[in-house]
Amino acid sequence: MDLAYMATLPQQEFIERRNKVFEQMQDDSVFIVFSEIEKRRSNDCAYPFRQDSYFWYLTGFNEPNSVLILRKKSGKQESIIFVRPSDPLRETWDGRRLGVTNAPTKLSLDHAFSIDDFSAEFPKILENTNAIYHLPTLHPWGDELLTQSAVDFSQALCWKEMLDEMRLFKSENEIALMQQAGQISALAHIRAMQKTRPNRLEYEIEHEILHEFSRFGARNPSYNSIIAGGENACILHYTENDMPLKEGELVLIDAGCEFAMYAGDITRTFPVNGKFSQAQRDIYEIVLNAQKRAIELLVPGNSIQQANEEVVRIKVEGLVKLGILQGDIEELIETEAYRQFYMHGLGHWLGLDVHDVGSYSKDEHNNNRNSKVRDRPLEVGMVLTVEPGLYISEKANVPAQYKGIGVRIEDNLLITEYGNKNLTSAVPKEIDDIEKLMANK
Ligand code: GLY
Ligand code: MN
Ligand code: MN
Repeated sequence: MDLAYMATLPQQEFIERRNKVFEQMQDDSVFIVFSEIEKRRSNDCAYPFRQDSYFWYLTGFNEPNSVLILRKKSGKQESIIFVRPSDPLRETWDGRRLGVTNAPTKLSLDHAFSIDDFSAEFPKILENTNAIYHLPTLHPWGDELLTQSAVDFSQALCWKEMLDEMRLFKSENEIALMQQAGQISALAHIRAMQKTRPNRLEYEIEHEILHEFSRFGARNPSYNSIIAGGENACILHYTENDMPLKEGELVLIDAGCEFAMYAGDITRTFPVNGKFSQAQRDIYEIVLNAQKRAIELLVPGNSIQQANEEVVRIKVEGLVKLGILQGDIEELIETEAYRQFYMHGLGHWLGLDVHDVGSYSKDEHNNNRNSKVRDRPLEVGMVLTVEPGLYISEKANVPAQYKGIGVRIEDNLLITEYGNKNLTSAVPKEIDDIEKLMANK
């Protein structure tokens, strides 16, 4: 089992994270985090398993049907895990299990039990405690298990804000993994540029990308890849990826690998035939200028919102110059007339999840990714994406040459004491550099 290859963090890091949770727990309380379970794809076949990010964050354990319990009683801290028990028959059919005996040493925890004994053991763990930390509804199987164990969690304290805030700030070790995720994702985009030509199918390029991920230790993408030729780029989460790429059109590729559970998230947009037309250049240059300005602004003390205000101004000025928008710049900004061409946010936190957790607002209780309030000042150790775009639908009332052009350019930034570090700069985004790369296939 130890030969299985997966990069990860040192054990010590998981121990330190659990200690941080212990520090924040009330005395005489129990903290409970459920793993993910297998999800059925069809009949008796499952989707590839992906561990729950919170459970992974605190355990580094990659099996389903597990529960981590932290108990703080009279000042004493104990860590307990419930896991699937060893079972030679099931392991012959479905794969190896760590098992109860190996779990404490392997995971640096105090005790382990079989998940089959949860209902019998958990009430004993709860004895003489008076608070439960839990995140209801995240895992219905966990809520069911608690209910079956006659545990009332209606008054549970929610741990979401506590763990989200911890996850938002990346450690040195996490940053090293995220640099790898960014680098590998960049290599895959370079290969996509080299392998794209008219009449190849979008999903052929998708698989060039997935193969490049796996050559460097990233078996999975961190989200479903978007390979959007022509007008498909105007569908923000287009993942059908089943159409031929056409001569004369752009292709927008939004793809990132998951390396050691950490996400990369890159978008590049480039011409299928390797040469930008004038209309494609016009739109592309607006987005590129906006993205470069945003990167200058995404530094400690500034907020995503501040950077986005500049992005909006650059886009509106550009669109007016091209005759796509008409009217007074200030008024077009004020009335959000640009929203038909730029309908998403400038960026999001990045980490174990591609849309990672953490509050975007100075008001710590606003944890909604879709909220417009993104006024939280950036701090060293945060990682986020910067991804302005412009999407001109075929149906838009604009000069004919711009119809059906969708452009997004997305990089991943680590906020540092010097400003920021672009983790995905290895993949070209200047027009000349893209054209040169594509000419040298
Ligand atoms: N890949 C999804 C996003 O860029 O947010
Ligand atoms: Mn993306
Ligand atoms: Mn993104």
